[in-house]
Amino acid sequence: MRSHSCGDLRTDAIDTTVLLSGWVDRRRDHGGVIFIDLRDRSGTVQVTVDPDLGPEAFAVAEHLRNETVLQVEGRVRARPEESLNERLATGAVEVLAQTLNVLNAPSRNLPFAVSVHDDEQVREELRLRHRYLDLRRERMRRNLTLRHQTVQTARRFLEEEGFIEVETPVLTRSTPEGARDYLVPSRVCGGEWFALPQSPQLFKQLLMVGGLERYYQVARCFRDEDLRADRQPEFTQLDMEMSFLDQEQILELNERLITRIWKTVKGVELPQPFARMTWHDAMERYGTDRPDTRYGMELVTVSDIVADMGFKVFSGAVATGGSVKCLAVPGGNDKVSNVRIKPGGDVFSEAQKAGAGGLAFIRVREGGEIDTIGAIKDNLSEEKKAELLQRTGAEPGTLILFGAGDTPTVNKALDRVRQYLAKELELIPADAWNFLWVVDFPMFEFNAEENRLEALHHPFCAANRDDLGDDPQRWAETLPAARAQAYDLVLNGLELGGGSLRIHDAALQQQVLRTIGLPEQEAQEQFGFLLEALEMGAPPHGGIAFGLDRMVMLLAGEDSIRDTIAFPKTQQARCLMTAAPGGASERQLEELHVASTWEEPEEN
Ligand code: AMO
Repeated sequence: MRSHSCGDLRTDAIDTTVLLSGWVDRRRDHGGVIFIDLRDRSGTVQVTVDPDLGPEAFAVAEHLRNETVLQVEGRVRARPEESLNERLATGAVEVLAQTLNVLNAPSRNLPFAVSVHDDEQVREELRLRHRYLDLRRERMRRNLTLRHQTVQTARRFLEEEGFIEVETPVLTRSTPEGARDYLVPSRVCGGEWFALPQSPQLFKQLLMVGGLERYYQVARCFRDEDLRADRQPEFTQLDMEMSFLDQEQILELNERLITRIWKTVKGVELPQPFARMTWHDAMERYGTDRPDTRYGMELVTVSDIVADMGFKVFSGAVATGGSVKCLAVPGGNDKVSNVRIKPGGDVFSEAQKAGAGGLAFIRVREGGEIDTIGAIKDNLSEEKKAELLQRTGAEPGTLILFGAGDTPTVNKALDRVRQYLAKELELIPADAWNFLWVVDFPMFEFNAEENRLEALHHPFCAANRDDLGDDPQRWAETLPAARAQAYDLVLNGLELGGGSLRIHDAALQQQVLRTIGLPEQEAQEQFGFLLEALEMGAPPHGGIAFGLDRMVMLLAGEDSIRDTIAFPKTQQARCLMTAAPGGASERQLEELHVASTWEEPEEN
């Protein structure tokens, strides 16, 4: 149906006859001559229809609607000097139409314009409802192509490094990664359920036990969790596992993988090695385990300076085991007014959303004088003031915001305010790629609601040997506070991937399951197959998984992973195009031995 792609025509095709197929991107009638921009995946080219050269073609062109699927036969010629279009790859030529053949004309109005010339902001709901049309547009075409290049580059790299691609089951048992499972009822085994994998974690470990040594997969994962711009209920991981490598070697290999992807897809040379920070430092200096290091404004702990200065909010926080931390906002005196920090203000409300009661503040004036409202100024001695200014590095003009309370809340609030102000005050440099390995995560964190420890990543991460000690008798004691041999790759404040070395010792794995409070019988039921495998010669191994959708989002400069997925779901985990999820017939439910208890909530 075609000899060339529209976007490929250049001056070397001049004077040849070509056959093109594509969509009518737009049609312009220039009194006598009609111009059609014909578009296919490769781009667009101008087709000129002159009534003197092809009266039949002209008759067809007169009635063409946008998005008609059209076949064009014609001769390529140079565009006249005055109509050269440098912005278009095909802008030096045009195709003089001899015949036009309508392959399919739209029979209904389109819900939005597709044309490359139309950068109309279309509501996302409409784009998702008619995703096939949205995919014809430049933005999605570019993003999906970029996704393809990313995957191709990763595949090539991993194959060079001796990895083999293996598929793991989608109908399986729960693979805990901290979210709810999507369940599938079994028709054949009545009353029993498959879970869709939250990740291929256990299977990839078993592939290592199986001697595969280096595995990768472009793996679909399913997690029923609250959705955000960077979270989808089904998403894709670039998933890897390898045997006989230590943490250092795994990080080095992955830096080369990422560097290759950025070079190939973006033409950007990333400096190696990537920066590293311990989890502890990240929490201390940024209040988060995924710090955005593109800008400063680090958090500074000042509990010791302010604990006994006579300001209740501060002393109370320290006395109850919490902390006082602050955020020095350079130039904040001019840019952030008191109203914005006090109840009702935008900065206040950011802190509040993270659970903080409010933000105390001081303003540093010329000559190091400080200015504030309320109790801080009256109670701050000259000595303490000097210490505070020195520790925060605050210059005249700086606004210092304080968070006080239990440490996790203080961290959360100041992290949120820091990110908010960085954006607002335009402190984030464009085009920066700040990769950061966060390492030495704790094995566990305390879940206050359930009053138990839970695995910070997942319960299969290896513990730091120094923290654990060599005596298995003492593991029950040493394990809870041990660091994990786990690492996350953070890019510009976003978690791009994470992984760890794994436990390959059955006894230690059992101890970890005990530590998170899993009763022995349940542990056997859920993970017996893993424990058994670990007893049959499991090699030392470890791995990592990158969020492919997130990686492509960052490479494409998009704000949402929905723009990197061909058919994504909404915040309500719905597909607007197919209207999934949908009902099931009584008969299907019966066969599956399932009945729904759902009731429509009553309208208020
Ligand atoms: P983790 O749970 O950190 O690790 O997931 C790895 C990466 O997957 C991406 N990701 C998501 N992307 C989109 N939507 C989601 N709902 C979503 N959840 C996670 C993130 C994240 O960094 N089995 C381990 C990996 C390992 O230990 O090897 C795992 O799944 O970018």
